[in-house]
Amino acid sequence: MRYIGNKTRLVPFILDVVGDVQPDAGVACDPFAGTASVSRALKDRGWTVRSGDLLAFSYALQVAHVELDRTPRFPAALIGDAEGRAARWLSYTRLLAYLTGLPPRHGFISENYSPAGRAGARHGRMYFTPDNAGAIDAAREQIAAWSEEERLDPARSQFLIATLVEAADRVANTTGVYASFVKSWQPNAKRQLELRPLKPTSRHNGGRPSSAYLGKAEELVASVGTVDLLYLDPPYNERQYPAYYHVPEVIAAGWSTPPELRGKTGLIPDEALRSDWCRRDRCEAALRTLIDRSDARHILLSYNDEGLLEAEVIAAVFREAGDEDSYRRADVEYRRYRSDGDGPSRTYLRDRVQEQLHYVRRR
Ligand SMILES: C[S@@+](CC[C@H](N)C(=O)[O-])C[C@H]1O[C@@H](n2cnc3c(N)ncnc32)[C@H](O)[C@@H]1O
Repeated sequence: MRYIGNKTRLVPFILDVVGDVQPDAGVACDPFAGTASVSRALKDRGWTVRSGDLLAFSYALQVAHVELDRTPRFPAALIGDAEGRAARWLSYTRLLAYLTGLPPRHGFISENYSPAGRAGARHGRMYFTPDNAGAIDAAREQIAAWSEEERLDPARSQFLIATLVEAADRVANTTGVYASFVKSWQPNAKRQLELRPLKPTSRHNGGRPSSAYLGKAEELVASVGTVDLLYLDPPYNERQYPAYYHVPEVIAAGWSTPPELRGKTGLIPDEALRSDWCRRDRCEAALRTLIDRSDARHILLSYNDEGLLEAEVIAAVFREAGDEDSYRRADVEYRRYRSDGDGPSRTYLRDRVQEQLHYVRRR
């Protein structure tokens, strides 16, 4: 999915630096995993990964791509049709076809994020067409029912949720982020919701299992103990992620306790999801705390030259925390993230920004 700060394009650069500081794969912690692009790449290189993030849809993606080592099969009894009764197991693709074919439901997404619902219509919210909203509701409520009845284990449930989040994102009537919706249906939004199979990253022979975590980075780094590599990719500006991705967050978290939405775009309550990294007065302390709590041989931090923390401040914190002479910074220039909605009239002072990778070896 398109994601602010997604490192997919920078993965080769990050892996090069990782390969320089520790050629043999070990244990890595990626506590700001987002789409799990870096966790996935590390696992693919043979690393055991402990990933984490504050957001529920990131957790689902981490389970799908990092925690699971292969595509799971599903109990045939879930769908209980003739084919299901004959066999014990059901393939993922067969289950996706079943979920796609469910009759639409008028659930939380239809009610709030599409014109089919009263709240959605009152605010003119057009995140999904009524058909797609009904299909998302049907699939999500079915996954929730299977989980509540304990017919689906947590990892399989997250795997299906991740599949649904990705599918919903492809038909969302946005320009890339959910901070606003477009006021006419875009071509992608008019397409029918399609659940496309995801592919977990295989574990290397003899490798240890990787794991996903839902919660604060500070908690994860403290709980994982000693690791070889701590890869940090925190937010670098004041944009709090839940305000830009509240709709996938609702789809992932579900609505067994329906969130109270606010504002034109139906934002979710986000006090618990707000990040100190997005606060100028708190981000330096957040960096110090995190490094303090971690026990990592190598620390890498992805940051940006337009970020709240000055490069010199990061360098000073790193030098204090590790072997002073080992501190290095590698920079790479890349094109600024633009959403489709920026249009040609949206001007930025600079079209290119610099991604920085700060490194220090712990003493
Ligand atoms: C720059 S993005 C990470 C992008 C990721 N590397 C990728 O390639 O998709 C920052 C992430 O940090 C998460 N985040 C912000 N504050 C956090 C905190 N205190 N603990 C854990 N995750 C946090 C956000 O939800 C967001 O997904």
